[in-house]
Parts: sequence; structure tokens; C-alpha cells
Amino acid sequence: MEKLEMLYEGKAKRIYRTSDESTVWISYKDSATAFNGEKKAVIEGKGRLNNEISSLLFEMLAAEGIPSHFVTRLSETDQLVKKVSIVPIEVVVRNIAAGTLAKRLGLTEGEILPQTIVEFYYKNDELGDPLINDDHIAILNLATPDQLTEMREKALRVNDVLTSYFASKNVKLVDFKLEYGTDEKGQLLLADEISPDTCRLWDSETNEKLDKDVFRRDLGNLAAAYEKILERLGGVPCTK
Ligand code: C5P
Repeated sequence: MEKLEMLYEGKAKRIYRTSDESTVWISYKDSATAFNGEKKAVIEGKGRLNNEISSLLFEMLAAEGIPSHFVTRLSETDQLVKKVSIVPIEVVVRNIAAGTLAKRLGLTEGEILPQTIVEFYYKNDELGDPLINDDHIAILNLATPDQLTEMREKALRVNDVLTSYFASKNVKLVDFKLEYGTDEKGQLLLADEISPDTCRLWDSETNEKLDKDVFRRDLGNLAAAYEKILERLGGVPCTK
């Protein structure tokens, strides 16, 4: 597979065209950003860690019957994915109160929620990714009601699989964000990444934070936290 010109550069990844029209080449960067890009740093090794963790999780989900855009890991920092058109909605699933939910509703961080919460955010940097509901999605024409139902159901299924998988590795899945894309047939496919950048992951016994909150809240060494997650998932250094 040949990497051609860059199509897009995001906060954490670069996307390149490939010689095959149906795929794109994703290169994970070493940059960390938080608070809609207000806080920034370069963290050596982060690109490799997120690429390896995300590849491993997408492979595990595929084995559980949940396909995604992921095709294969190409190198330490790169993966090949199916080309999709990203739906501008971030789907957040929450099992335990933390982050903006705890702040918005005055909940105590760490409180187990009586039921799983699914939220939708409008993926729009200029607006700071605001929380939206079905009616907002309809008037902005971001997705059809059927697509929304499908995104919600898939997100809950991903939550079930990921929660038990992480639990078996001594990690609590507090919350996470998913993105979807549509392929050339209009089918919804899980896209973007699933990594400690997009999930809150706490040690099951100590509640030690092993995710991007380490960077957001200056709690210590981010790469070391992500390395712990990779190790627990049985990740082996990439040899390709
Ligand atoms: O900040 P908040 O509590 O709303 O985040 C919920 C979950 O979604 C967290 O796991 C966070 O890492 C993830 N998230 C993300 N990208 C965003 C917003 C939130 O990955 N733009």
C-alpha cells in the first residue's frame, strides 16, 4: 500500500490518501491536546501507544461481531482504515460519573450511575462541541432518526463488550467517546479511534487514572499511564 498526499491534519492524527480509493492511511501524532485545543503538548511515544491500543481494541471488537473502519496496523504509528464520511456527532457513553457530566449535574466523580447514559455532542471546534439532543440533530440535519437509533444501539453494544474486556484486565471503563462514518453504501461504521485519549480508564482497585485526564489535570506521566494500559491489554511492541 502506498501513502500518497495528506488529505487532512487533525489534533492527534494525519490522514493520507492511498493508492486504493477505498482506504485512507492514518498516522497517529505525538501531540496531546485538551480543552478544545487550548492546552497542548508533544508527548513522545503517544502516537505509537494510541495506534497500538486502538488497533488492538478494533480487532477485539471485530472478533465480537462489531466491525469498524479499521483494516490493519501498518507500523508503530500508522494504520490503514476504510474511507468513510465522518458523521459530525460525538457519541459519549458513561458508566461512572466523571468529567463534564459530574460538573454539569453536580455529581461526585466516581459515583456509579444507576443506568448507562448516552449523550450526543455536535462535533464542531468553533462551537466547542456542544451537547445536543435528537431535535438539535434533526434541525441541523446531522443524522437521520434511524441512524441515530443505530448509533445509540451500537454504542451500547460497544460499551458491553469493552466494559467486560477492560474488567478482565483490571481496568474500569468510566466513559468513552465514539465516532461513526458512512461508507460508500451509506452504511454506518464505527470510526476514528478508541484509546486512552477517548476513554476514561481507571485501575479497578486503586482508581488510578490511566487516560488523558493525566494530561488534562497534570497528574503525572501520560505516556507511562498509556503504556500500563497497553501492557494490560497484552500489547506487544509493533514489529512491522
Ligand atoms: O469531557 P467529558 O466528560 O464530556 O468526556 C467524556 C468522554 O468522552 C471522556 O472519555 C473523554 O475522553 C471523551 N471525549 C473525547 N473527545 C471529546 C470529548 C470527550 O474523546 N472531544
